[in-house]
Amino acid sequence: MRAAVVGIGVISKSHIVALRELGEEIVALCDTDVEKAEAAREAYGLDCPIYRDYLTMLDEIKPDTVHICTPHHLHADMVVEALSRNIHALCEKPLCIRKEDISRILEAEKASQARLGVVHQNRYNGANLFVKRLLAEHPIKCAHGEVVWRRDGEYYRSADWRGRWETEGGGVMINQALHTLDLLQWFAGFPDYLSASVSLLRRGEDIEVEDTAVAFFEGNIPFDIFATVASDSSYSVCIRINTEDGLRLTVLPHMVVTENEVLFSEEPRPTVNKASYGNGHRPLFEDFYSAIRDNRPFDLNGEEASRVVRLILGMYESGGKRIEI
Ligand SMILES: NC(=O)c1ccc[n+]([C@@H]2O[C@H](COP(=O)([O-])OP(=O)(O)OC[C@H]3O[C@@H](n4cnc5c(N)ncnc54)[C@H](O)[C@@H]3O)[C@@H](O)[C@H]2O)c1
Repeated sequence: MRAAVVGIGVISKSHIVALRELGEEIVALCDTDVEKAEAAREAYGLDCPIYRDYLTMLDEIKPDTVHICTPHHLHADMVVEALSRNIHALCEKPLCIRKEDISRILEAEKASQARLGVVHQNRYNGANLFVKRLLAEHPIKCAHGEVVWRRDGEYYRSADWRGRWETEGGGVMINQALHTLDLLQWFAGFPDYLSASVSLLRRGEDIEVEDTAVAFFEGNIPFDIFATVASDSSYSVCIRINTEDGLRLTVLPHMVVTENEVLFSEEPRPTVNKASYGNGHRPLFEDFYSAIRDNRPFDLNGEEASRVVRLILGMYESGGKRIEI
């Protein structure tokens, strides 16, 4: 298929490399910083035009798909503009950062002949797929997730949209811990209530959004999360799950263990980008493109990806109180 990529920053590498490996054709790159796009075109040996304005690119090139790799506040408009032109959109997480954008996107998706896919690539990791299958046989009782990372001033200064409510839409939750919260609600189901507290504890010199968050979710299956980017180091993301029949699982990026047994393990493969992004982009894209070709539904659509956004926006609204979602 003829694919265009908009936003040629850090994550675009995962998109461009995977598209090439999958044999899809990259027909255009777009970035307001044209030099970045030119550097990528050269680095990946691409032969395609470069645009500064994504609407001009969509109208002139008419790609089959557009990969949206821009800062958070631009996702909603870019998705809606692509879908309204019946161009399939594959958007980086988060789907959007404002409540009102969720309905706008879902309406555009419904009205379009094109598909929307959202990049929650960790759902394609071996360990997480193993757990999803295991829980069909061993019903989940409760779960806990932890993201304890270090993000310093250099990281936040690397792009001016980072660390600001207007453009990032939040901090550790909407950016780094979104994947883990998405997995928790994928395993445990969508909750009815939440109580959350978010704080800016240690990175106040660099950012205005939260660097630390804790939340409890109540529904059929209770779960909770602790997330921070204010730690002095980064640790492996971890999800713990207790099942109704007494299994006590620890889920790590490449391993699932009980207290005395390894249930799943895989050799970590080299990643094309930062190790924390994992290897899920390529299988997610493969699934998305084959869903289009086979005319079958793609699971990680707007509705599915809006769930974790609704939970995170609820966390920001909660202010320590228990609220209905
Ligand atoms: N799935 C993952 O694990 C993962 C990992 C990292 C980043 N991301 C997501 O990818 C997105 C981009 O993150 P990043 O780290 O690559 O950011 P980045 O700042 O490195 O790249 C963003 C690029 O978008 C360009 N841009 C800004 N406004 C534009 C516009 N109007 N039109 C065209 N280009 C524009 C910028 O010039 C920049 O090159 C974010 O949504 C982020 O959350 C996802």
